[in-house]
Amino acid sequence: MNEVTKRGSAHYNKTQIRSAYTHVQKSYNDFALQETGKPWWDAFLAELQDDDLILDLGCGSGVPTRYLASRGMRVIGIDISPEMILLAKKQAPGVPFICADMETQWPRDTFDGICVFFSLLHLPKEKTAHLLHKIYQWLKPGGTFVITVVEGTTEGLCENFMGEGVPVYLSYYTKEELTSSLRAIGFSVLAVKDLYIKTENFEETELFILAKK
Ligand SMILES: C[S@@+](CC[C@H](N)C(=O)[O-])C[C@H]1O[C@@H](n2cnc3c(N)ncnc32)[C@H](O)[C@@H]1O
Repeated sequence: MNEVTKRGSAHYNKTQIRSAYTHVQKSYNDFALQETGKPWWDAFLAELQDDDLILDLGCGSGVPTRYLASRGMRVIGIDISPEMILLAKKQAPGVPFICADMETQWPRDTFDGICVFFSLLHLPKEKTAHLLHKIYQWLKPGGTFVITVVEGTTEGLCENFMGEGVPVYLSYYTKEELTSSLRAIGFSVLAVKDLYIKTENFEETELFILAKK
C-alpha cells in the first residue's frame, strides 16, 4: 500500500498532485495498461446502452476511458494533470479530454453514467460528500455511477507514491463509509466488491461500488 506518513487534510495540495503525476506518468500508465480494473468497467457497461453519455472524472492516462469509448459510449474525460491528459489524448484519439478539476460544475441531469476510477484517492475526505452529491445531480434520473477506491482508514500525505519518492495526498475508504454516504445522498447501491492487487511497488485492496440515481 502507498503509506500515509503525515496524517490530516492540512497536507492537501493540488499543485503537488499535478507534479506527482508529471513524475509518475510512465509508471502509472504502465500499471493502467495492465487493465486490472476491466471487470469493473464491464460491470459499469452492463448498466449502459450504446451511445450513452459518460463523464470519467480523474481519467488519468485514459485507459478506462478508451475502453468505454471502444464499447460505444460517448465519454468525456476530465483530469487535473496536463501530462495525464496528453497521454489520454494519444491513447484515445477522438475522445474529448479536458484538463480541469473534477469538482468543475456540470448542468443537472446531463450524464447517463459517471465513473470515478481511483481519483477520490487524491481528494480530502471532507470534500467527498459534496462531490458525491454533485455527481448525483449531474446524473440523469436512473443514471449509473461507478466508483473505485483503495480500502483503508487513513488520509494525508504519502511521501513515497508508487515507490518513486514523490509526495502526494492520499485518502483511503472503508466499504461502510462510502456506501452509507452514497445512500444518504439518495443513490441505490447495486454492488460492492473488492479485489486484492499486488505490483512491484505496492499492494492494496481495491473497492468497487456500483450505484444508481
Ligand atoms: C490513480 S489515478 C486514476 C486514473 C484513471 N482513472 C485510471 O483508473 O487509470 C488518479 C487520477 O486522478 C487525477 N486527479 C487527482 N485529483 C484530481 C482533481 N481534483 N480533479 C481532476 N483529476 C484529479 C490525477 O491527476 C490522476 O490522473
